[in-house]
Amino acid sequence: MILSRTVNNLKESDSFRVLSYAKQLERQGKEIIHFEIGEPDFDTDSKVKEALLEALNKGETHYTASQGILSLREEISRYEKNFRNIDVSPDNVVITPGGKPILLFVLMAILNDGDNVLLPSPGYLSYASLVRFAGGQPIYYSINVEERNTIDPDEIKSKITRRTKAIIINYPSNPTGKMASATDLLEILEIARDRKILIISDEVYSRITYEKEHISITRMAEKDDKGLLVIVDGFSKTYAMTGWRLGWGVLPDVLVKPVVKIIQNSISCVPPFVQYAGIVALKEGDDFVKKMVTEFRKRRDVIYDILQESDRLFIPKPEGAFYFFPRILDLKMSSVEFTKGLLEKYGVAMLPGSAFGPTGEGHIRISFANSLENLQKGAEFLLKYLKEIK
Ligand SMILES: Cc1ncc(COP(=O)(O)O)c(C=O)c1O
Repeated sequence: MILSRTVNNLKESDSFRVLSYAKQLERQGKEIIHFEIGEPDFDTDSKVKEALLEALNKGETHYTASQGILSLREEISRYEKNFRNIDVSPDNVVITPGGKPILLFVLMAILNDGDNVLLPSPGYLSYASLVRFAGGQPIYYSINVEERNTIDPDEIKSKITRRTKAIIINYPSNPTGKMASATDLLEILEIARDRKILIISDEVYSRITYEKEHISITRMAEKDDKGLLVIVDGFSKTYAMTGWRLGWGVLPDVLVKPVVKIIQNSISCVPPFVQYAGIVALKEGDDFVKKMVTEFRKRRDVIYDILQESDRLFIPKPEGAFYFFPRILDLKMSSVEFTKGLLEKYGVAMLPGSAFGPTGEGHIRISFANSLENLQKGAEFLLKYLKEIK
């Protein structure tokens, strides 16, 4: 069978590959500590589960409007007002199974063969595949992991061509845990305005922040910028609902119909009982989020202190999300070899920095979405391994 160019261009996800190798070792009887997984290890709030069962029992088991049920879109409008302090009409909200499909569908709606999309490096590993999947060409801009302002506006400007359709930004960032500075956001807005390119702002970690609150680029936007901005958000990280597959996009008027058309012609809609449960998460989930973030902060601080013991790690303290992205000093092997060795020798799974774009090499990503006990054990193994290898 000759497979399509689209599929041949797609890479297998590095995180799922590491996860499946770790699972294979587990089946062989090896005990594995999982630091590779990008999902909260908390159970979904029982109120949300009950809401799902109630909706099921009421017979909410049929197709819904492809854009999503109105009551959920209205609740998201309220959430956008409360949380981002922006006015969003329910008409501009589109519901999808997670934040990832919003990214894909927006890209499918705007890209023609070979159009460019700017992506952060290091950045979320699916961006490049999603751009390719939609027929585009990923172009990386670098994120400075170690300084306050994360972008270099001149670098971004130099990478924009006639074919640049969009720039993806992601704060708090996976994998670096960095939050945007106001200067970064204003620079990005100005570039997008001048060149008339779309900003796709992936804010799925916006509620998981430690010292300061998230600032959305949409807060900085002026009225005329509305057509330039897409917000991607979802329930996966905020409410520990990764497996539920529920997310949303706030889209400019011009993109709503095209994206809904893609939904109608592909996935049809998100299951209604999942959408009804989402309303309860938004309405009643604040305490749950606070508790989870408090726990993440505690883990971050404990592990940060343990890892300071190594003089081979340069480790910025994450301001949001739940990842460390340390640089390993004087590393004489690739980050893939490093993480493979750590997994095989000590049973600690983490992701190689090279999976996160061209500037990720030399780093490792450690997810602290795991119990404190496992984190402490895994961090000690990492310190030992760092002493042994070159
Ligand atoms: C930066 C970022 N964006 C989007 C997603 C997609 O999340 P979901 O589709 O579960 O909402 C993830 C998941 O890891 C992520 O890290």
